[in-house]
Amino acid sequence: MTIGVVIGESKPTEVTAQSSKPLAVGEYVIIDSQNGKLLGLVERSIVSSDALTDVRNFDEAIESKEVASLNSRDKNYKVKIGILGFLDKLQKGQAVLPAIPPLPGSSILDATEEDLGIIFAPKENEWIRIGSLLRNSETEAKVNLNKIVSRHIGILAMTGMGKSNLVSLIAKQIAILQGTLIIFDYHNDYENLNLPKINIMTAKINPRLLQADKLAEVIEIRENADKQQRALREAFTDSVKQAKDFWTALKDSVSSFGHMTKGYADSASRVLDKIDDAKHRFSDILDPDCGDPVDLIKEGRVNVLSVAELSERQANAGLAYYLQELLTDRKDACWAKRGKESRKNNKFSAPIFVIIEEAHVFIPKGEHTDTKYWASKVAREGRKFGIGLGIVSQRPRNIDPNVLSQMGSLAIMKIVQDDDQQQIASAAESLSKDLLSQLPSLNIGDAVLIGQWVNLPAIVHVDEVKGKTVGSDLNAVSEWSESTKFKEIGVESTHGLIQKDLLMD
Ligand SMILES: Nc1ncnc2c1ncn2[C@@H]1O[C@H](COP(=O)(O)OP(=O)(O)OP(=O)(O)O)[C@@H](O)[C@H]1O
Ligand SMILES: [Mg+2]
Repeated sequence: MTIGVVIGESKPTEVTAQSSKPLAVGEYVIIDSQNGKLLGLVERSIVSSDALTDVRNFDEAIESKEVASLNSRDKNYKVKIGILGFLDKLQKGQAVLPAIPPLPGSSILDATEEDLGIIFAPKENEWIRIGSLLRNSETEAKVNLNKIVSRHIGILAMTGMGKSNLVSLIAKQIAILQGTLIIFDYHNDYENLNLPKINIMTAKINPRLLQADKLAEVIEIRENADKQQRALREAFTDSVKQAKDFWTALKDSVSSFGHMTKGYADSASRVLDKIDDAKHRFSDILDPDCGDPVDLIKEGRVNVLSVAELSERQANAGLAYYLQELLTDRKDACWAKRGKESRKNNKFSAPIFVIIEEAHVFIPKGEHTDTKYWASKVAREGRKFGIGLGIVSQRPRNIDPNVLSQMGSLAIMKIVQDDDQQQIASAAESLSKDLLSQLPSLNIGDAVLIGQWVNLPAIVHVDEVKGKTVGSDLNAVSEWSESTKFKEIGVESTHGLIQKDLLMD
């Protein structure tokens, strides 16, 4: 059905049209040009009224309103449509723009599910459904899981806009395909994720496996406490690392270093306090007898590693350790596959995907962290060895731009802040100004998808993962009233008891 007509000046990249109804920005339409059907995206939509233009006062506005309602020709719907390419070529994965602009008078048609499905929802099993197109909602929106794992993704949005929901959805699809996913969960957002065979655990750090400076970090010795750092480094010998009772051996070694080295008695005793403190405070996490923490990750499953109990520095050391080991394991596995000798038995025989929440904390701009070092290594080398990285953040402006620009695909949800938008725009070439200008007007669960996981940039609404609350907002008002009710019941029952007691006396 014709919904508009091309008017005015056309270009090979855009046309202007008059339409019979207001069209939504972000809607896909077909331009029936002289050289064949073109796919277009409504980039600007302007509605105006002849009668209601140049109105000078309120009475005139009321009169003009009546005139406008009587005149069927009064309203003017004008749209600017960006041309994405020939429809048949796009359906084969090629974007070919017309050499000659569509002639004025060409019809604008509704894009049907048949037109769009081949582009946005290919049938091959590497394409997984994540929702539907926002403005052409009868068309499914799928993403290419192979590209997610081989070329990495970034999920960026303001807080509460649906990042963790999208991660849960991807996790669900990976679980169905029996892939290996590891989510570093900083806020216990995924502990209720309802998936078959999900492996939920606390991320552990085995102090025996750390370098001395990392051990100092996890037991919270200050970076500039040089003497304490040295006492720990000298005491953390190979025999301590292999001792049956690790903590006792380490403490003995620190004490004897303190006794034997002039001027170090005080520093050594402070290190002993730190060790005792860390041992008690972090007994769940710092575990010298847990073996290699990476062994707790299960292949072919969704693994949620809670880092909620760790301090930022510990989480950093922990994440760096996991990333390093996972990358090394995948490298070995690939070399072994090619017939070269491998370092040890590989744990992961097939590609794995790792998701880091709160990426701006662990992969910050302008500051060195170990996680950042290993994350950027995974981002650069992961493609060759089958380890994909997903970074999730509500503060894109604080993420290291190098790592962000290595993300082959992005899901961007509502973002209002200008500097966040600029950071994303500079990391992603394919994000046009028009798509960028859409970001503040998106609602919860709406996302702009760009990059290699889609055939064409798409504005979609992501499905909501049902049956669990992904970091849903606390309902303070109802919780207060619940807790008041309980208190009242408590008071009433105590009164009852007191009165009973009095009666018994
Ligand atoms: N696609 C969606 N459709 C409808 N509702 C959604 C959708 N995605 C998320 N929500 C709702 O929005 C709320 C917040 O979602 P979510 O926890 O995924 O946001 P977030 O971006 O991860 O937030 P945070 O920055 O706090 O981690 C949830 O309660 C969820 O129910
Ligand atoms: Mg979240």
